[in-house]
Amino acid sequence: MSTNALISVVYHSGYGHTAVVANKVQEGLASVEGVEARLFSVDDVDWDVLNASDAIVFGAPTYMGGPSAGFKAFADATAKPWFGDAWKDKLAAGFTNSGSNAGDKQVTLQYLATLAAQQGMLWIPLAVKSANGLNRNGYYLGLGTQSDNDSPEVTPGDADKTDAFNFGVRIAQATKRWKAGA
Ligand SMILES: Cc1cc2nc3c(=O)[nH]c(=O)nc-3n(C[C@H](O)[C@H](O)[C@H](O)COP(=O)(O)O)c2cc1C
Repeated sequence: MSTNALISVVYHSGYGHTAVVANKVQEGLASVEGVEARLFSVDDVDWDVLNASDAIVFGAPTYMGGPSAGFKAFADATAKPWFGDAWKDKLAAGFTNSGSNAGDKQVTLQYLATLAAQQGMLWIPLAVKSANGLNRNGYYLGLGTQSDNDSPEVTPGDADKTDAFNFGVRIAQATKRWKAGA
């Protein structure tokens, strides 16, 4: 099988819940033929792989109404690729997880989309109607999942994991189309 698209997921997770979502997005990406999907915690980023990626998916928990400081430190470090236009015209997407069903997740998604715009990237929204258990929190800009104050093995639950897998598939398919037309 020839690999025709490289996609990276970069996420921060203080307590493991956003990591569950990141893993499911990566599984969805990797399920699409011809896609190599890489997963990086912000503590363990391979910048060469990010620079070589056709698409980058950003993931941050919502802390105090915005992206976590751990993710923001990564975002600030992307000033280096910004200076060289290294991520211009890559695709981008984003997800956040938080404790409330809303909990101001929209602010985090807007931040992730703004980061992508600063880099000159093209943003892929979720494109899933909030119905039949899917997109249960009703976010459209990106994926907004929810977990209770318990173990990441318990929540986020199956519906959110399904959304995360499906979002990975969508991002992978969009990236293949974008790359084929480039
Ligand atoms: C410092 C801090 C701030 C938080 N702020 C919010 C918030 O603004 N909205 C919300 O819904 N949940 C908030 N939470 C709950 C987290 O979003 C929730 O526990 C999430 O699952 C944490 O993800 P993680 O395990 O990947 O770190 C906060 C948690 C922490 C530790």
